[in-house]
Amino acid sequence: MTPRIKICMGSSCFQRGSKSNLEFIEAWLQMHRCAAAVELVGSRCEDACRKGPNMEINGRPYHGVNLEILADLMEQHFGKCQVNS
Ligand code: FES
Repeated sequence: MTPRIKICMGSSCFQRGSKSNLEFIEAWLQMHRCAAAVELVGSRCEDACRKGPNMEINGRPYHGVNLEILADLMEQHFGKCQVNS
């Protein structure tokens, strides 16, 4: 199963920082040479706007994601990506 990141780009999450999160994810995947190994998709709303910015990694939801949290999440889920690419 392809590793998957789903990031909410709905208006509420967008205002709370999902654009910065998306840019960070894209840069992180490129830097770690795993962009081709990870499916990155957007959504319009996850029905949890008040908890945003929201995203899922491999089906697991994460709320209130900021750049500090995101760095740890990416390392935790995809830190070994270079080995597999
Ligand atoms: S806009 Fe992201 S959960 Fe609604």
